[in-house]
Amino acid sequence: MHQDLRTAVLCGIGTCLPPHVLTNTDVTRLGGLDTTDAWIRTRTGISRRHRAGAGTSTGDLAVAAGRAALDSADAGRADLLLLATTTPDRPCPGTAPEVAHRLGLGPVPAFDLAAVCSGFVYGVAIAGAMVTAGLCARPLVVGAETYSAVIDPTDRDTAVLFGDGAGAVLLRGGERAEPGAVAAVDLGADGAGCDLIAIAAGGSRLPGTTPRLSRESRYFRMRGREVYGHAVRRMTESSLAVLDRAGWPPGSVEAFIGHQANQRILDAVADRVGIAPRHRHGNIGEVGNTAAASLPLALAHAAARHAVRPGARTLLTAFGGGLTWGSVALTWPAAEPRSQAPARRGSPAPRPSSPA
Ligand code: ACO
Repeated sequence: MHQDLRTAVLCGIGTCLPPHVLTNTDVTRLGGLDTTDAWIRTRTGISRRHRAGAGTSTGDLAVAAGRAALDSADAGRADLLLLATTTPDRPCPGTAPEVAHRLGLGPVPAFDLAAVCSGFVYGVAIAGAMVTAGLCARPLVVGAETYSAVIDPTDRDTAVLFGDGAGAVLLRGGERAEPGAVAAVDLGADGAGCDLIAIAAGGSRLPGTTPRLSRESRYFRMRGREVYGHAVRRMTESSLAVLDRAGWPPGSVEAFIGHQANQRILDAVADRVGIAPRHRHGNIGEVGNTAAASLPLALAHAAARHAVRPGARTLLTAFGGGLTWGSVALTWPAAEPRSQAPARRGSPAPRPSSPA
């Protein structure tokens, strides 16, 4: 390890959104849901979401976003691949090794991280710590999800909320004064709430091979009203904790991006933390809740519009099933985000990335 590498620096941003878009009206019609476009917009802020078609997996989205992040950093390689997801291609083995293989990274360490919507923040914290510990030099952190594979289209409590997509960042060692430098992280979990957001079947407690599994247990379920209060409280506390650790007064934050689950939750957290409305960024209206992909997709969206100056103090915060939560304080990266269409398994050469 080099002596002068004092922290991890975000140096590449990549995204992949499947081309198929569903409006609120489309989702409502598909599931025969008793809801309206107006209810979804006003209660969540969501207008549309992207949907991976049959045959497109989380791994396909992750490969594309990962390739785009490498292109954004002008880097051919990463030496660790960490995939945050709770919709992996299969329960066993993890999806990350195949993604690393498809990216041509060689025999680098690769593993999945299941922290639901907090997965990306957990991933940046772990990969960043591995950089400063000298265990890797250029980790690629991908958040990728296909919630369309686990959502019950007839459940109005969840079907209207989720979208598919992937976002990725490349980290490297660097100085704290550089744009994209991680200043502090905060992570937490409370398993007492593990049943509030869950897919009950498919693991060792209720194997997917169990005969006559109920619809309730096979699909993703969320007790939204109960989760709401936890989300506001935990993201607020975690945001204040990470800012305190970084030594940044809340009023000095120029960019706030929270997990894109519900616009009302995001506003409540930002109000409580003390972030002015002009410093809040997000894309929930266009992509919905993309779980572990949410933060890198929102980061890329704001970066593509040059909405924040490189070097500006930035706060990322997330909350999800587990229950899990976490925040990262970093300075806004200088990287130009890139994007790719979903990769096809078995397709040979990578395609060139386009601006995100
Ligand atoms: N359309 C119309 N009515 C609806 C819908 C819908 N899609 N969904 C619920 N309702 C009804 C309810 O049945 C309820 O009716 P009632 O008053 O007659 O009982 C009423 O609307 C209000 O229900 P609430 O659940 O209180 O609605 P709320 O305003 O809380 O919005 C939501 C629901 C959007 C799910 C919200 O609670 C939420 O965003 N929760 C937190 C989500 C979150 O942060 N999750 C964590 C990350 S996700 C993850 O980890 C994978």
